[in-house]
Amino acid sequence: MWKSAVLPLLSLAGPSFAQFGWHWGGWRPGPNFGHDRNNAKVIDLSGDGWTLKSQNGSISIPASIPTQQYLDLYASGNIGDPLYGLNNDNLDWVRDQNWTYSRGVQQLRTGGPRGGWRGGQTSTYFVFQGLDTFTTITFCGKVVGATENMYRQYTFDVTDLLSSCRGTPQLSLNFGPAVPITHAISNGPDQDGGVNFIDSCNNDTNNELSCKAYARKEQNDFGWDWSPSLVPAGPWRPIYAVQISQNELYINNAAIDIYRKGQVPNLPPDQSQPWVFNASIDFTGDLPRGSSLQLTLADSNGRRVLQRRLSGVYSSANTITGNIQIDPSTVSLWWPNGMGSQTLYNATVDILSGGGRFGSSSIATVSRRVGFRTIVLNLNPISEEQLAQGIQDGANWHFEVNGQEFYAKGANLVPADVFWPRADDQFVTNLFTLVKNANMNMLRVWSSGTYLDDWIYDIADELGIFLWSEFQFSDATYPITERYIEEYIAEAYYNVRRVNSHPSLALWAGGNELEQIILQLPLGIDNYEMIQLQVLIACVYANTRSISYIPSSTYNGFTNLDFNSVRPQTPRYANRTPGNFYNDTDSYQYDATELFNLNTYSKGRFADEFGYISLPSIQSWELEAPESDLYVESPTVVNHNRHSGAVFGATEQQSFRLNAGLRVLALSQPDSLSGIHQITDATHMWLPAPDLPDSRANFR
Ligand SMILES: *[C@@H]1O[C@H](CO)[C@@H](O)[C@H](O)[C@H]1NC(C)=O
Ligand SMILES: *[C@@H]1O[C@H](CO)[C@@H](O)[C@H](O)[C@H]1NC(C)=O
Ligand SMILES: *[C@@H]1O[C@H](CO)[C@@H](O)[C@H](O)[C@H]1NC(C)=O
Ligand SMILES: *[C@@H]1O[C@H](CO)[C@@H](O)[C@H](O)[C@H]1NC(C)=O
Ligand SMILES: *[C@@H]1O[C@H](CO)[C@@H](O)[C@H](O)[C@H]1NC(C)=O
Ligand SMILES: *[C@@H]1O[C@H](CO)[C@@H](O)[C@H](O)[C@H]1NC(C)=O
Repeated sequence: MWKSAVLPLLSLAGPSFAQFGWHWGGWRPGPNFGHDRNNAKVIDLSGDGWTLKSQNGSISIPASIPTQQYLDLYASGNIGDPLYGLNNDNLDWVRDQNWTYSRGVQQLRTGGPRGGWRGGQTSTYFVFQGLDTFTTITFCGKVVGATENMYRQYTFDVTDLLSSCRGTPQLSLNFGPAVPITHAISNGPDQDGGVNFIDSCNNDTNNELSCKAYARKEQNDFGWDWSPSLVPAGPWRPIYAVQISQNELYINNAAIDIYRKGQVPNLPPDQSQPWVFNASIDFTGDLPRGSSLQLTLADSNGRRVLQRRLSGVYSSANTITGNIQIDPSTVSLWWPNGMGSQTLYNATVDILSGGGRFGSSSIATVSRRVGFRTIVLNLNPISEEQLAQGIQDGANWHFEVNGQEFYAKGANLVPADVFWPRADDQFVTNLFTLVKNANMNMLRVWSSGTYLDDWIYDIADELGIFLWSEFQFSDATYPITERYIEEYIAEAYYNVRRVNSHPSLALWAGGNELEQIILQLPLGIDNYEMIQLQVLIACVYANTRSISYIPSSTYNGFTNLDFNSVRPQTPRYANRTPGNFYNDTDSYQYDATELFNLNTYSKGRFADEFGYISLPSIQSWELEAPESDLYVESPTVVNHNRHSGAVFGATEQQSFRLNAGLRVLALSQPDSLSGIHQITDATHMWLPAPDLPDSRANFR
């Protein structure tokens, strides 16, 4: 669990390291955590010692971070299990107010030059790995800053505040209520950017959660056709206090890119080329002049495969970058489940003071577990050779690993818990083991949940499950005012760099179902082309050569790829030759009578999502519903069903009218009987209907 992340700091004495902090980047003691080494002083503020207060102070309870307010309220008995029965109906008061997390930070060293430790000026920072979402940060009674993006890592310099602090330094995080805040934004100067074409923001009197496109916050927190709308808030990832003196560094992030020499994103590489290992390390602090980089590569038994200086090293105020070539014969390939073994290596990159001269020493170390593989989404036109094999004309839409085309077998992954801080290692390991045992090799990390933590990619690396990953944009037109574009760039840079070392990373897609909806509705194309075809693609192409990018989970591909253009991919959109195939598909059936009519199935090269509404297992219901509610149309079952049954062209009553005169589905409809009826209709039509006297037995 996140909560067990409180780790002691080790102090090592050595000729060149005055002090080492072993820095946990997350809670899982996996291969990518616990091994970044800094000479800065790092204080992990995760765990107990925090207090959570409601807006008027009537609730004041102990809290343990990472967390969200519902978890602490539940743990302290102030609310029942938010997922049980009809409990979620009575919790709007939790969502609609301010919550403040605070604690004293006694461990900070003060005194600077005359404080007697290591001389020189000492700077103090807070590093927040995740704040959900509209946060005002106060330290020593003064405002440090405000944040509004749960997907970013933030670093704040509090050196001056600390030097004038009286008494125990207090850190306080105020989380504002996302629902009224998004409505306020939508009425302010940023409103021109946002047209939410699913739930029309502000015009939609039925749905106060409909302005979610204005929040850089997990969109299903506001409800989806599978999730409740609880709108959690809180410090959902760890927090560190970091103190840095002269010639000391703190590692914030690192981009490790392994690709075949000459490889560029989206195009199949030449498999005969050597590997290029490129490391780019983001830090806070004072990089000594003339620093260099050294890679040590070890196999899973700890045997050293190579140790070499990186070349082409260059640095800026907070990044140092370099690369080397690796002879393919020195390493084995990583393969997905069913195609070979998942060979992993331990890559350790040392930042050395001095360019390798006598006496240069390691200032900081980044360790990442890596694999050697190429993965490409091939969207090239169908070749003459393929036509001769009887393949339908159009364009390819398939993945290739290490030069081999393969059939992606998989499923979609929604968040492992509606409260992410509670999601645990054992649960995800069990889930991914089921995925592996079902002979799957890929999961689509659906947007809009969140960018996954590294520990989840670690599990996928080990089990050989590719993770098709998406930027957090889903079924809406997102604002494109400067304030928002800056947020998109910051979150994309951080997350693309953070997860690039994982061999299980398969793809970056710009969002969920965007092109498909734009082709159906004449709305939001400028926003889509700016965000998905210009801004995000630039962030991907600047930070990785090994991963392909597509602007949307459903995509008809591109007719031109030009890396020198501000819009490198020219989308094909609907300019298709009839009878040819160019795309991946996403389609659901809502009509039980058509369930087995294959003519109604969409035809494409790749199926992202398809299916028919169903119920969770009886075991899941038993956790969430009182026994008296274990029947099909019970209050709990109907309440927990969020699928309205409305589709494009739905009836007035089921849907909302946009100014364009189009009717579209409402994403989250609590108490929806129509969705339940789709299930019961299909059951009566296609399955032997149970007719037992006991309604629970029928339900089972
Ligand atoms: C990777 O190598 C570094 C440096 O030798 C070591 O500290 C770390 O424990 C190793 N990690 C793993 C997962 O073996
Ligand atoms: C504080 O707020 C809660 C709702 O969050 C309310 O029930 C309670 O009455 C308030 N108490 C005071 C003293 O205003
Ligand atoms: C939340 O709390 C802050 C600080 O007390 C206050 O300025 C702000 O108005 C509050 N927001 C709401 C929506 O109540
Ligand atoms: C809301 O409705 C008004 C008046 O009908 C219209 O002018 C405006 O464009 C609508 N806004 C959105 C976001 O649909
Ligand atoms: C290494 O990665 C950085 C971005 O992290 C990029 O700017 C640079 O071009 C890459 N260099 C090579 C040789 O791949
Ligand atoms: C995919 O292509 C087919 C024709 O091959 C077309 O009918 C369908 O509308 C396309 N789907 C999307 C989402 O663009």
